[in-house]
Amino acid sequence: MQKVAVVTGGTRGIGAAISQRLKKAGYKIAAIYQGNHKAAEAFQKQTGISIYKWDVSDFKACQEGIKQVTKNLGEIDILVNNAGITSDGALHKMAYKQWEDVIQTNLTSCFNMCRHVIEPMRAREFGRIINISSINGQKGQFGQTNYSAAKAGIVGLTKALAQESAAKGITVNAIAPGYINTEMVQKIPETILTQITNQIPIGRLGTPEEVANAVLFLASDEAGFMTGATLTLNGGQYYL
Ligand code: CAA
Repeated sequence: MQKVAVVTGGTRGIGAAISQRLKKAGYKIAAIYQGNHKAAEAFQKQTGISIYKWDVSDFKACQEGIKQVTKNLGEIDILVNNAGITSDGALHKMAYKQWEDVIQTNLTSCFNMCRHVIEPMRAREFGRIINISSINGQKGQFGQTNYSAAKAGIVGLTKALAQESAAKGITVNAIAPGYINTEMVQKIPETILTQITNQIPIGRLGTPEEVANAVLFLASDEAGFMTGATLTLNGGQYYL
């Protein structure tokens, strides 16, 4: 039977690559988006992947959205928490809203989504949860106290939920990508991005497809003994 995968932020950037890679591998996909309706529609047309619009930082919206996906596609086997935003600025210049928005969208969203899929996964004794963290949650980044905190928080959530879920056939892992060639990274001022790229031993930005391949592995039955892990994928830029 075709397994069902939900990918948040699944219509653009890394999420779009994940949705497409999992579809190609035979999964039924629900790609969740929030802001960019035009891009989501174009993505649906181009790929044939179902799209759903809701705000993953909203607990109730996640509950209703997941109910709808389950009704349309079947019980959820794989959850990829990928949705994320940046709102960079040094802490001494950061508005409370910049902090709140990033924590809500990048970290609270993981709780919201996990909370609504975990009980059915426990009942069915199968699940794969893959949370997209970041190199900047591991090393910290000037201008990203909010983002670094959220991405580090994801690693903690992953480790704790992995322990809670292990006996129920559910694995929970994180991926910490480095700088990947997406719109988010293209927004970084050019001189700063050049400095960053110079720090990547492989000498280039990563591609969304390279992250998607790691997700595909963690989603597979073959990855059943891996849980609570953080897979680092950053061109050699940072070692824990
Ligand atoms: N380390 C140390 N000092 C730094 C610094 C750094 N990395 N970056 C800037 N500074 C210093 C500057 O030299 C400057 O010092 P002086 O005042 O003494 O000259 C001071 O900090 C202020 O610098 P700016 O005027 O540039 O500050 P700003 O407030 O205008 O901009 C910023 C700050 C928005 C954080 C900008 O530096 C920036 O955009 N940095 C990139 C942040 C980044 O990497 N974001 C990643 C986005 S992609 C992503 O997040 C995906 C992922 O998972 C990897």
